[in-house]
Amino acid sequence: MPSVKDRFLSMLINSSDYISGESASKALGVSRAAVNSAVMSLRSDGYGIDSSTNRGYLLTNRPDRLDNGSIGAFLPGERMDRITVLPVVDSTNTYCKDLARKGAPSGTVVISDCQTGGKGRRGRSFLSPSGVGLYFSYLMRPDSGIERISEITCWTAVAVCEAIRDCYGLDSEIKWVNDILMNRMKICGILTEASFEAESGTVDSLVIGIGINVNEKRSDFPEELESIASSISIENGGKTFMRSELAAALIKRLDALASSWPGSHDDYLDSYRSHCITTGNRIAAYTTVAGESEARTGEAVSIGSDFSLEVRFDGCDEITSLKSGEVSVRGLYGYT
Ligand code: BTN
Repeated sequence: MPSVKDRFLSMLINSSDYISGESASKALGVSRAAVNSAVMSLRSDGYGIDSSTNRGYLLTNRPDRLDNGSIGAFLPGERMDRITVLPVVDSTNTYCKDLARKGAPSGTVVISDCQTGGKGRRGRSFLSPSGVGLYFSYLMRPDSGIERISEITCWTAVAVCEAIRDCYGLDSEIKWVNDILMNRMKICGILTEASFEAESGTVDSLVIGIGINVNEKRSDFPEELESIASSISIENGGKTFMRSELAAALIKRLDALASSWPGSHDDYLDSYRSHCITTGNRIAAYTTVAGESEARTGEAVSIGSDFSLEVRFDGCDEITSLKSGEVSVRGLYGYT
């Protein structure tokens, strides 16, 4: 059950008019004193709350905070029961995998304002400073075998693009296999970690980790990422975006994904193809052979029905299907 403070914040966010102390205490089932203390605590978190003797309380300023009340304001009440919001954690994926091991149900979500050990793909780290990004993990228990897992990651890329559009009205692009870009700069990465049942080869749990650069400034990125990484804010004139709204939109889109898996394959494939900007470009595909990285160049032609990247390599007539995990792909002209 969310706290009085969280529930009152959700009420304030959803009200364009003053809420009287009396109606708040009735709706929340607590004393007027408890409402007062929630107001004081919210003010100390940076929320601007006007209080007027005859009218009650009105939210006048909402900082960009990731807390239960501001995420819950955009979700049905009972949905918050499976959501954990943390100020800081080593990695939301690690925390979520731990919950999965303890039997947490599908749809469990872990969100953090900061990660001290954010993990990226291929053993890399994921920069996760506090107060600007959205670090998010979603637990899914799909009824499928190992072979279709990489497809869920591609469905997730579609869900992220749709969530960004739902709440901010902005377009984003997918770089195969699952980087999300805005104006051809990376603003989001996805890392999916699965645990299998060895005997049957079925998936026990899947933790879908999503890291979105929302309000970072240029100076938040190290020099080596300057030409690759950006944030939604940088790509939109330095405006500040509310991360709590994006978190809620993402939860809705991932709930829809989980409940339509695997039946909605064709819809997700169509949407993936229309967001993907790798196709039609010259690319280099890197594979690791005996510890050495090998690159082959060619043209990315299309996305196959299993979300593989179909490439015509230079000097070859036939098309080669690249599966995620086997290769990493870079555009020859820029990051795409
Ligand atoms: C990549 O681009 O290499 C994938 C990055 C994935 C980062 C997210 S942030 C939330 C979740 N927790 C982690 O430790 N990693 C993922």
